[in-house]
Amino acid sequence: MNKAKHKLRWLAVNVCRIVLAVTFVFSGFVKIVDPKGTQYKFVDYIQAFGWEAWVPEFVPLALAISLAVFEFCVGINMFFGMRRRFTSWLYLLFMLVMTPLTLYLWLTNPVEDCGCFGDAITLTHAETFIKNIVLLLMSWVVFRYFRLMTRFISERNQWTISLYSIVFGLILACVSLYRLPVFDFRPYHVGADLKAAMEIPEGLEGPVYETTFVMEKDGVREEFTLEDYPDDTWTFIESKTKMVSEGFIPEIHDFSIILTPEGEDITMNVLADTSYTFLLIAPHLEEADDSNVDRINELYDYCVEHQYAFYCLTASGDEMIETWKELEGADYPFAIADDITLKTIVRSNPGLVLLKNGVVYNKWSCNTLPTSDQLNAPLEQSLMGRLQLDSRLMVTLRVLLWFLIPLRLVVFADRIWVGSKLYKRMKHRKKINNLLKTRKMRKKIVAGNWKMNLNLQEGVALATELNEALTADKPNCDVVICTPFIHLASVANVLDTNIIGLGAENCADKEQGAYTGEVSAAMVKSSGAQYVILAHSARRAYYGETAEILKEKVNLALANGLKVIFCIGEVLEEREAEKQNEVVKEQLAGSLFDLTTEQFSNIILAYEPVWAIGTGKTATAEQAEEMHAFIRATIAEQFGAEAAENVSILYGGSCKPSNAKEIFAKPNVDGGLIGGAALKCADFKGIIDAWKA
Ligand code: PGA
Repeated sequence: MNKAKHKLRWLAVNVCRIVLAVTFVFSGFVKIVDPKGTQYKFVDYIQAFGWEAWVPEFVPLALAISLAVFEFCVGINMFFGMRRRFTSWLYLLFMLVMTPLTLYLWLTNPVEDCGCFGDAITLTHAETFIKNIVLLLMSWVVFRYFRLMTRFISERNQWTISLYSIVFGLILACVSLYRLPVFDFRPYHVGADLKAAMEIPEGLEGPVYETTFVMEKDGVREEFTLEDYPDDTWTFIESKTKMVSEGFIPEIHDFSIILTPEGEDITMNVLADTSYTFLLIAPHLEEADDSNVDRINELYDYCVEHQYAFYCLTASGDEMIETWKELEGADYPFAIADDITLKTIVRSNPGLVLLKNGVVYNKWSCNTLPTSDQLNAPLEQSLMGRLQLDSRLMVTLRVLLWFLIPLRLVVFADRIWVGSKLYKRMKHRKKINNLLKTRKMRKKIVAGNWKMNLNLQEGVALATELNEALTADKPNCDVVICTPFIHLASVANVLDTNIIGLGAENCADKEQGAYTGEVSAAMVKSSGAQYVILAHSARRAYYGETAEILKEKVNLALANGLKVIFCIGEVLEEREAEKQNEVVKEQLAGSLFDLTTEQFSNIILAYEPVWAIGTGKTATAEQAEEMHAFIRATIAEQFGAEAAENVSILYGGSCKPSNAKEIFAKPNVDGGLIGGAALKCADFKGIIDAWKA
């Protein structure tokens, strides 16, 4: 793909992703700050679908909070480019569910406003459907090319932000529920002039309604209007009112207060009152929280004392009002208002509103009602009586700070944690564990160790036979034969080094000089060999080769360009005492841990449990794998994950064609070091072929 096309795609993905993110953060946020509003919307849907009977009461609120926090968090994840595949998939899935659903709502119209942006933005069902189609297409683009989403936060910190946005969403929802919505998008917000919001501007018409009358005469029914209202020979049956022209509908058009039991409409009196009026709003007294009823009664006494009007507005019937009066000792007057209007005015049952001159001065939820301390002075002189106007900008800034400051702290804490030794150790462990689980591309090797067997002629014959067999049927692993010193030069002559490598079984721990009987690493190299076995258990046991001596040998071998097959392994008593790991680690550390990573890249390890060498007793594949994994983890700790990933670890000890396949199948076994079975061409080839499928 050319660069320009790629850039364009990147741009498209990132533009879509920002639009999607902002939409979800916004729609989630406006629901979070008004959980009750979202709850009412869910109740509307449940009622419209006739599901009230089988949906438990807590469900609408639980759904409201879950949906709000879900949208908010997915939006945040999308914005920062966190968990890109999962987030884009989640978004797409959500849109795939919501889009057909909104089409259904458009066609059936069970509830007027869909509620996707709470009270902040009201969309018709058609608009919502079109919006969802656009979001669906965008979320498909983002899902398809999620990798092109630029991250705004390092992968390391993403979990903190994900988790934090969930916690933040939940806490903000609870605060809004306990107090009142942090943002109030409704026409009754603090600072709203209710009178003005109810007026129809001059020159504009209000909605026009037509009332028709169904009348009956001699068994015939007909409809009449006021203009052609018939004479009294017709009997009135019913009247129907319908809106014939919408006209201008003021922001507030359903606010009326009817004093009970008098039946007097006191709406305008209340709104025109130049002093203070308290409205206790309790849409349904039967559901109202009465835990702070004493504060309400105290407040009423305070109002009587200072001559402020006080009404309890409810949509409950007379009987319930009487019960409330009796139970709660309420002396204040009651007035009837529309249930939905009351729920819109304040998101608490009961909630409290302070009006002056038709303007909303203050609002309280049932949990934050004024206390007696606050009621010790007339409102004219107290803070409570002042208009509590917070500009939207200030509130937005405050909420943003509430989000950002703790977020920074959480990220900071995460950085400290990430910098900690414990985390590093855990991460390292995880890396090693991953490394141990998969077989990498490191070399697969089968090496023969002839030990002190075969004379020169026999050795050359075996090498020739093996060379022919492997030339005819190429191995798919590296093959090495390690022979006694005197065989090396002759065997080198008969081997095709592209197929079979050659190695010695030992070399001296001195460079050169008066070491009668010894063979130096340089001499081995000069014979044509490329490998040398060191630290075989026989040499450790019978020739007293210590870790120090072996260290010298390893250094000299490497310095002379030989690859070292370094043997390690525990004896039976050590295994029985479950000390095998300890022993093997010590052997590695004693002779190899001073090497550089570069030098270590020329080491091949051979794990040979001494109790399995030449005894016919093989370690089980599981035992071998367990130890090989331990060896690799040890190497990772010392030389790093890459070195551990690349080092071949061979198993040795009674390895035969019959068991090689099972052992080699283990992810940390990279081949074998073969003794007895390397002395016969067919057996050795059988083991080599274990690498073939
Ligand atoms: P073995 O020997 O296969 O005969 O057990 C292995 C070794 O000593 O390398």
